Amino acid sequence: MSRKITDKVTWVGKIDWELKRFHGEELSTHRGSTYNAYLIRDEKTVLIDTVWKPYEKEFVENLKKEIDLKEIDYIVINHGEIDHSGALEALLNEIPDTPVYCTANAVKSLKGHYHKDWNFVQVKTGDTLDIGESKLIFVEARMLHWPDSMFTYMTGENILFSNDAFGQHYAAEKLFNDKVDNDELYYEAMKYYANILTPFSGFVKKKIYELLDMNLSINMICTSHGVIWKDNPLQIVNKYLEWANDYQENQITIVYDTMWNGTRRMAEAIAEGIREADSSVVIKLYNAAKFDKNDIITEIFKSKAILVGSPTINRGISYSIAGLLEMIKGLGFKNKKAAAFGAYGWSGESVKIINEALEKAGFTVVNDGIRVTWNPDAQAADECKEFGRTLVKQI
Ligand code: FEO
Repeated sequence: MSRKITDKVTWVGKIDWELKRFHGEELSTHRGSTYNAYLIRDEKTVLIDTVWKPYEKEFVENLKKEIDLKEIDYIVINHGEIDHSGALEALLNEIPDTPVYCTANAVKSLKGHYHKDWNFVQVKTGDTLDIGESKLIFVEARMLHWPDSMFTYMTGENILFSNDAFGQHYAAEKLFNDKVDNDELYYEAMKYYANILTPFSGFVKKKIYELLDMNLSINMICTSHGVIWKDNPLQIVNKYLEWANDYQENQITIVYDTMWNGTRRMAEAIAEGIREADSSVVIKLYNAAKFDKNDIITEIFKSKAILVGSPTINRGISYSIAGLLEMIKGLGFKNKKAAAFGAYGWSGESVKIINEALEKAGFTVVNDGIRVTWNPDAQAADECKEFGRTLVKQI
């Protein structure tokens, strides 16, 4: 159902309480999500974005309750991914000639998804659309997070429709940031940044400074996922600047997999050594085979250093650690230290393999790592503790 945001702007999106996985299996969404679409009524009527494909019929039916579809003068698609453009086909089946404003790259992505030659109007940064008392200003936002992304700014109401940027996979009945649990909100906003935007931090900084230079007054940031930033909306912009600046907290995260608990015991002994050497540092341990990979990525995002451990399996490393290392390579974390560890019975290649993967992923590997045969005995556990104590000095 629709919700009024201002006299001229109505939320016409979908709250998806059931969503648990996004981008296929790539991203966990423990708190669901929303697909936010907005209807602007000025002298002209504009729809900003739609919803994810499975909800296209529901979206069009709800929109019909709000407005006669023929009254929609323009559609703005800020980004072509199907969680936002998914209802476009069903909508344009009803109002086929309606102009669709989007970037040149979004024409490509929309044609790629839907194979339709709709009435596209390509826009670039600085282009405007008069809609009556207000004006829409388009700002390309390449790589936030796709090459086709853009922001749309509405004068008068001073609303930035930012699409994915500043969003969160967070289902909430209340639409505004000051009406929800802020610990949950910020965890989900950080998880979104860590897992989706980290590779594009350079673009994020550049775009935010460009936006600030435009001196736009911003009363609200209407994202395409999660809540609207209405109370002190620039708080999330400033947070993004912090996150984009090689973010880290005083945290060390130890991620491991284990077959017969040898590598787990190593992880725990290393953690003990770190704690003895530095009581101020936050230390967290995750078994990668048991914990959600995207939550682990969020913890890595927060860390100044990580330790990665795997037993040697068939002269290689465990499936879960290999997958995680592949993820962090793609995300391109910067300014983080790392080390490797692992138990083995026979050949013992895991530490070398992890070290190489960490270097490829851009981490500074601070030592050769530590290997232990079989299950660590008291002496081996002491060596792991000493490894932890020394690591504190090395980072
Ligand atoms: Fe929310 Fe990039 O789609």
